[in-house]
Amino acid sequence: MRIAFLSSEAVPFAKTGGLGDVAGALPKALAEEGIDVSLIHPLYDTTDRHLLREQVFDNLEVDWLGHRRRVSVWLSEAAGAPAFLIDAPEYFSRGRVYGEGDDHYRFAFFSKAALSLLGRLGQAPDAVHGNDWPCGFAVAWLRAGRAWGGFLARTRTLLSIHNLAYQGLFDANDLWRIGYRHGEEMNVFMSNGAASSLKAGLMTSDAISTVSRRYSFEIQGPEQGHGLDWLLRQRQDRLIGITNGVDYDVWNPATDRHLAAHFSADDLRGKRACKLDLLRRFGLPEELDRPVIATISRLVAQKGYDLIEQAAGQILEAGAFFIALGSGESRYENFLQALKDHAPRRVAVYKGFNEPLAHQIEAGADIFLMPSLYEPCGLNQMYSMRYGTVPVVRATGGLDDTVEQFDPATGEGTGFKFEHYSAQALSDKIREALVWYARPAAWRRIQRNGMRVDNSWQAAARKYVRVYHALFDL
Ligand code: ADP
Ligand code: GLC
Repeated sequence: MRIAFLSSEAVPFAKTGGLGDVAGALPKALAEEGIDVSLIHPLYDTTDRHLLREQVFDNLEVDWLGHRRRVSVWLSEAAGAPAFLIDAPEYFSRGRVYGEGDDHYRFAFFSKAALSLLGRLGQAPDAVHGNDWPCGFAVAWLRAGRAWGGFLARTRTLLSIHNLAYQGLFDANDLWRIGYRHGEEMNVFMSNGAASSLKAGLMTSDAISTVSRRYSFEIQGPEQGHGLDWLLRQRQDRLIGITNGVDYDVWNPATDRHLAAHFSADDLRGKRACKLDLLRRFGLPEELDRPVIATISRLVAQKGYDLIEQAAGQILEAGAFFIALGSGESRYENFLQALKDHAPRRVAVYKGFNEPLAHQIEAGADIFLMPSLYEPCGLNQMYSMRYGTVPVVRATGGLDDTVEQFDPATGEGTGFKFEHYSAQALSDKIREALVWYARPAAWRRIQRNGMRVDNSWQAAARKYVRVYHALFDL
């Protein structure tokens, strides 16, 4: 089985969020299952050039905006599966991955170049597995191409939704220039008067997956459907939820190179050293028995930052430290700054993206907050569990699927989970968690329950393999 895995971000080449982690780990896990998988990815100016092994093509021709454009392609082995990186500085040397006014051109070009590359490599894959809106273009092109036969006519497609809220919307007048010229080809993009590459991909892919089981149901309803629930309901027999895994080569407190000390479920002593290291890093008082409540996230409404804002006062009243790592919307950055100014000996904030610090916080914190409004899967709650940091989450999407509420009667459970999206429900759960934090034996039990959960990629990779095979039975 030969798979071309397309992503706009993948660790170690680029990462803005969980998709980077997933696309960095899943191809490797698929390769371990015997799949012949290659990653295709843009070569950004921010990508570390040391990761590249060699230039494999210096003249890949891409039919683009009425011209033949030539780009070069680099090969890297740094991702655990061969990765081909498309070098088009005009589009990918922008200092960042997304957020440019011409993103639809940038990723349509990426999609087009990826398909040209497959042609150049000379062996059609059995399936193209695309991720999120940037790859919707490739899926739509493949479907359109089937009508005229040719090299990729037998290649099947799977599109994975990592976040339905990001739909790749753009001015429908640009479709013609990008190269979708026939009625039906253009129609699949149309979404409330605009064009959407995600919608086009969802309309035209042979199968659709999303990153947790619960989210696969949630997106079929109007509340989480972001206007596309009708389409997902229509295609529900082609839609599957596969919960993400954790790359334990990267997220493992027993080996993590970013940590001051190492630890595991059998020997938690190093975690205290990591807590001390974390408090020192942020210049907080070295009060090791005071609980550290932490968050790491993009600062957007999705992550429940409105609830954190409202509950922050109670977190401080309850006597905890609060540590936040994140960047995003200025209203949340301002709130964090104000909170820190208000209680500088109890609150620490790092505004920005900092990978080593994310590991150090996972290791040094006691409680991890993820009160998300919605969460397709979420990775940090799973990292937290492995690092003995107990998650407090809202029961939505993948958070609900991966965190089990602690039950004192049985001693089972890996964290604390609330249903209702309200600051009151969040503060109540934080208070409940703190009650158990104050009982060290019970707390260690919860920590160990979480640390022993196996969220490795293997199980998920096997499910994807089954989906790839099923594409040929459709
Ligand atoms: P999402 O993809 O919606 O942002 P996930 O929980 O799936 O949420 O994944 C987020 C990933 O991005 C995690 O690996 C997390 O550690 C990382 N991350 C988020 N914000 C930051 C930040 N400011 N600095 C470092 N890593 C971050
Ligand atoms: C998205 C989602 C997140 C998920 C990640 C990886 O960014 O917001 O919940 O874990 O993709 O699939």
